[in-house]
Amino acid sequence: MSRTPHLTARLQGLGTTIFTEMSQLAMAHDAVNLGQGFPDFDAPPAVADAAVAAIREGHNQYAPGTGLPSLRAAVAVHQRRFHGLDFDPDTEVTVTAGATEAMCATLQALLDTGDEVVLFEPFYDAYRAGARMAGATERVVTLRPPDFSFAAADLEAAVTPRTRLVVLNTPHNPTGKVFTRTELEAVARVCVDHDLVAVTDEVYGHLVYDGEHVALAGLPGMRERTVTISSAAKTFSVTGWKIGWVCAPPALTDAVRAAKQWMTFTNGTPFQHAIVVALGLPEEFFAELRAGYRARRDRLHAGLHALGFAAFPAAGAYYVTADVRPAGHDDDMAFCRMLPGEVGVAAVPCSAFYTDPARGRGLVRFAFCKTDALIDEGLTRLGRLA
Ligand SMILES: Cc1ncc(COP(=O)(O)O)c(C=O)c1O
Repeated sequence: MSRTPHLTARLQGLGTTIFTEMSQLAMAHDAVNLGQGFPDFDAPPAVADAAVAAIREGHNQYAPGTGLPSLRAAVAVHQRRFHGLDFDPDTEVTVTAGATEAMCATLQALLDTGDEVVLFEPFYDAYRAGARMAGATERVVTLRPPDFSFAAADLEAAVTPRTRLVVLNTPHNPTGKVFTRTELEAVARVCVDHDLVAVTDEVYGHLVYDGEHVALAGLPGMRERTVTISSAAKTFSVTGWKIGWVCAPPALTDAVRAAKQWMTFTNGTPFQHAIVVALGLPEEFFAELRAGYRARRDRLHAGLHALGFAAFPAAGAYYVTADVRPAGHDDDMAFCRMLPGEVGVAAVPCSAFYTDPARGRGLVRFAFCKTDALIDEGLTRLGRLA
């Protein structure tokens, strides 16, 4: 090819998503995969049964491009039930191919060439790639250990006349941070003062062990300027189903739909039917989910600490981030590339989630969306490190 297409040029240097690289290494070495964030246990039986029933009942053709009406209604009811937010299912809710498509469509819809987007780093790597695809560039606010908080002044300083969006992920991947109400109020203030749109990724919203999940859209002045994204993947242990959704006021929804229709148009009809059932599960399901994950969080955190890693507290999501330098490993990337072959464990190097990898040096993400037996096996193997 004699010329470099725009998109290739914009994605230059971002490489392959780190999850692919680490999962390939895990497979090559038959490693315990504490890297990529997918559970090694199944969907709730009622939800799996609903998907099978939908297939058997013949719900196998294209769903409407905006999503099944019953799923859009279920998302709206769920938002009211858990966050006290009201969305019109017809004009303010859109079903997508996971939160990933929701985010990509939103970024393509709302960003232009030369625009800027504010990201909190470490960031889930799809945000930067999505912004770059739209021709925009990122400005970052660095979350600093041990609690991964940020200075309000840093946020203010990241905003320029070119800024259009602030992307916020809470509960946060990779750190397990849950943004506090005070922090979210600071974000809201900046968005309102500078007339910015906020895009929130709340895929771990049900996985909070300390504190509470606060939806940014519920804060004063934010309902009309927030695109709220979530998905079924993490809550219902169905990462392979790729059913997500976007909730936003009508004008923003129209813009997102205009982009989304040319991406996948629609997806996963039987799975959409099943997620209607999932979103309606009783309170006990969500409470048990949290309790199970809290216990796994404690297990992994204590185990990593006992091995000499500086494991940071994780209030939510399903990851513990640890600094491996106190245990004698300088470089997280080299550590994670060595780990599968050396002791049969996969983890994710956090420097991949920083614009300047030096800021994340030594930080490694371990996932606890795994059975106790697998977590224990992973810890035992890590104990064999020289
Ligand atoms: C923060 C965050 N957003 C989005 C996703 C992907 O969500 P989905 O599978 O619904 O596309 C992940 C998966 O790891 C994630 O961690």
